[in-house]
Amino acid sequence: MPAEPACSPLPAHVAIVMDGNGRWARQRHLPRIAGHRQGVDALRQCMRACVRRGVGVLTVFAFSSENWRRPVPEVNGLMDLMGKALVREVAELQKNAIRLYVVGDRARLSARLQDGLRRAEAGTAGGERMIFNVCFNYGGRWDIAQAAARVAASGQDMTEAALGRALALAHVPDPDLLIRTGGEQRISNFLLWQSAYSELYFTDTLWPDFDDAALDGALAAYAARERRFGRTSEQLAPPPQAQGAAAC
Ligand code: IPE
Ligand code: IPE
Ligand code: MG
Repeated sequence: MPAEPACSPLPAHVAIVMDGNGRWARQRHLPRIAGHRQGVDALRQCMRACVRRGVGVLTVFAFSSENWRRPVPEVNGLMDLMGKALVREVAELQKNAIRLYVVGDRARLSARLQDGLRRAEAGTAGGERMIFNVCFNYGGRWDIAQAAARVAASGQDMTEAALGRALALAHVPDPDLLIRTGGEQRISNFLLWQSAYSELYFTDTLWPDFDDAALDGALAAYAARERRFGRTSEQLAPPPQAQGAAAC
């Protein structure tokens, strides 16, 4: 059974598939990389908004295992952007007490980028206000496979709990709310294991246009959802003597 998060109208963990950068650029007759650059600005704004609203964990999909299939100049541009953005944003993360984790298969990244990622993580290790996971060269299938290999190598029984502890996002609870911008309604190999009970929210807004109002729209939709975790609505209603107590 999945762990049940605390009942709250505010999601403790928000995950986002930041999609639509390319279309945002095309609409403006700009190269795709201009859309990715604008996407970094949108992410900075979203990160700040999440901290202000009291979200405990923000996890974003920045580069998937499948994104290597894109044209080489775009892939190189995204690698470059990631390296530069991290160096540039460390001070901002520190200022907001945000702890950065870069999640994914780093083996295929350049030694220089790997070094930059390590430094950025180390530089924010003291952050206690919000955890910020950037999924980069990440795939849900990769994660499950690497976790299974680690459990097998350790000699433990292959249980849900053991696998869960070996996953790349074991340091955070499962996402309560999973947002995808850009109009597509698919998971694209994001948090396959962890999204088992996430509330899904799809919006046509392209990622570079995803502002505070768009975030609030997603949070409001989440607050109106009933999370049952297999139970019935009646089971969730508070008994009459517990009026005023939170109903989940
Ligand atoms: C998402 O935007 C960012 C990455 C996948 C890196 P896209 O680049 O996929 O934008 P669209 O879907 O082509 O508009
Ligand atoms: C998902 O977006 C990956 C990221 C946002 C990093 P894509 O644009 O790559 O997804 P597909 O290929 O259209 O499903
Ligand atoms: Mg896309």
